[in-house]
Amino acid sequence: MGKNRIVLAYSGGLDTSVAIRWLQEQYDAEVYTVTLDLGQGKDVEEVQKKALSIGAKEAFVFDVQEEFLNEYVLPALWAQAVYEKRYPLATALSRPLIAKYLVKVAEEKGAMAVAHGCTGKGNDQVRIEVSVAALNPDLKVIAPARIWGLTREQEIEYANANGIPVPATLERPYSIDQNIWGRSIECGVLEDPWVEPPEEVFEWTRNPKETPDEPAYLEIGFENGVPTLLRGQYYSLFNLVAELNRIGGEHGFGRVDHVENRLVGIKSREIYECPGALILLAAYKDLENLVMPRDVTHFKPYLEEKYAQLVYEGLWYSPLKEALDAFMKKLAEQVTGVVRVKLFKGNMTIVGRKSDYSLYDFGLATYDRGDLFDHKASEGFIKLWGLPIRTQAIVHKKVKKGER
Ligand code: ARG
Repeated sequence: MGKNRIVLAYSGGLDTSVAIRWLQEQYDAEVYTVTLDLGQGKDVEEVQKKALSIGAKEAFVFDVQEEFLNEYVLPALWAQAVYEKRYPLATALSRPLIAKYLVKVAEEKGAMAVAHGCTGKGNDQVRIEVSVAALNPDLKVIAPARIWGLTREQEIEYANANGIPVPATLERPYSIDQNIWGRSIECGVLEDPWVEPPEEVFEWTRNPKETPDEPAYLEIGFENGVPTLLRGQYYSLFNLVAELNRIGGEHGFGRVDHVENRLVGIKSREIYECPGALILLAAYKDLENLVMPRDVTHFKPYLEEKYAQLVYEGLWYSPLKEALDAFMKKLAEQVTGVVRVKLFKGNMTIVGRKSDYSLYDFGLATYDRGDLFDHKASEGFIKLWGLPIRTQAIVHKKVKKGER
């Protein structure tokens, strides 16, 4: 075999563009790029052309939209994966899939290493590298941005000197990552957690000041945990999330402002736009609550929190995460029904739910005529329920009086 081969996760941005040339020079390597279409709305063919024009040996593009939705987003929906109760993990969920394709191409090409453009301060480096290790522990990982120590200006200089196209208007000073499940925005003025995010950071959601004066009502249908119906029409999961992003955004819903705890120990201020994710997560939870007995509703959140943490911390391909998936999938089997959602002026509320599996029993719940609840049974129930407390109270009373 000839030269060293390296497979680089390529976004088309400045960092990974510079990385193509840098890897070639430093490792005397042939660089293969991998770009995934995760519904981020970027023209991946343009990205592919760019990689080739900079000198990639081959530039691979994979349309993984359905795979991402079915195998990464759907399990996360069932698990209600939301980090620190705010962030639905769009970026975090995409990293193990990127790692999967890096490994796939590396194995096909007999590459010695894979590479990515992450810096040394973030979570993404951890997610990609731990995922690569889980899938093929023999592959090396190179993180150029962690090694080269170039400032932004030096990077641009390097790009100019090497004929690497630099966008004419240097983008706004934000770092943005997006896919169908959400958009993550950081850096620039957002680094001051006291400063309200300027309107320009938002692309998917309107300012609630400029939203329709009439609410939108949506009926979302779930079959065995899978959202399949919107306003009475069947949708692929991808199109359904896309449509919820659109409608949610139009009504100004889906903005998150979060000072979060990164795995590497720092707090960082992040802005997210994720209307579709937040609508589906809320609708799913509501329906699950309708069809599941109380113990499930009370117990599952403990596992949900752990699940979100595992995803955030790069442990997608881990025994614990996979075992939790089996748990979540079992419960999802009965999550069939319809949820009614109202969107209005930046807010989302669930206003109705129904299911053939509904455990809500009107006869038991009503205070009106038709009440079937056995009121007399409560007397004995309370006696036994309160027995430990009553016993303790009796003992303490005796102790106080000096009778024991
Ligand atoms: N803080 C989020 C996370 O760790 C978003 C990261 C965004 N990544 C990026 N390369 N801009 O999941």
